[in-house]
Amino acid sequence: MKDFEISAQYIEQQLNGFKPEVAIVLGSGLADLADQITDPISIPYADIPEFPQSTVVGHTGRLVAGTLGGKNVICMQGRFHYYEGHSFEKIAIPLRSFKALGCESVILTNAAGSLKEDMGPGSIMLITDHINFSGFNPLIGPNDDEIGPRFLDLTQTYDRQIGERVEKAALKSGLTLYRGTYIWVSGPTFETPAEIRAQRTLGADAVGMSTVPEAIVARHCGLKVCAISTITNLAAGLSATNLSHDETLEQGQLAAKRLTTLLKDLLADA
Ligand code: HPA
Repeated sequence: MKDFEISAQYIEQQLNGFKPEVAIVLGSGLADLADQITDPISIPYADIPEFPQSTVVGHTGRLVAGTLGGKNVICMQGRFHYYEGHSFEKIAIPLRSFKALGCESVILTNAAGSLKEDMGPGSIMLITDHINFSGFNPLIGPNDDEIGPRFLDLTQTYDRQIGERVEKAALKSGLTLYRGTYIWVSGPTFETPAEIRAQRTLGADAVGMSTVPEAIVARHCGLKVCAISTITNLAAGLSATNLSHDETLEQGQLAAKRLTTLLKDLLADA
């Protein structure tokens, strides 16, 4: 069996007949969203064979499965970043195991810095495209043709139909929803002001250290992808203050409430 099949088999046993349709990955400060799940089944990452283990403060490491907005979901409370030292092979395992469990789509959430002064902390941005600024690609290495193609088309990485439903859900609750391009940096350092100027020139609207590798791996194995950023700060050089992880967590909490409502409305609409 392949690594992700071993994980999926264990998860399936714990789920006791429950069939998740949508996977959700929770970013920094968004872990509380999992508390909104009804009839939760919680599975610590530490118990799942082949699964990577999480190391960042603010990221609890477990899966929570149950219903949200009436839909069967499986939620990653705590995600894996390349800057933690995880290999891309390991980062791919959760996504591939969700596909193996029968999920059709994944909603990726994250905390991001804004490159636009008018999209301030607390804003919510639907990711419509990305720029890979990291110099890495999670699919480097031998390709497993049973999972997906060697040369993956990324023309439409972020699902248009789900995006339209996100917009509808935002409209319903009167939430201002930004749309934009997310630029992926490896981290763990925040950017320099010169890098942010360069990224603005390239056409990026928000910057962050996650999501893109997961989106690529998810598309590769045939999952539909929706990705949403909560804006925690203006990127380096765009505001008077320096950046800290604490600030990121704080603003994430504020935006998390809005995102919870948005996701519930989105899932209820399907
Ligand atoms: N840069 C990169 N990642 C981030 C930021 C940022 O400004 N804010 C939250 N995650």
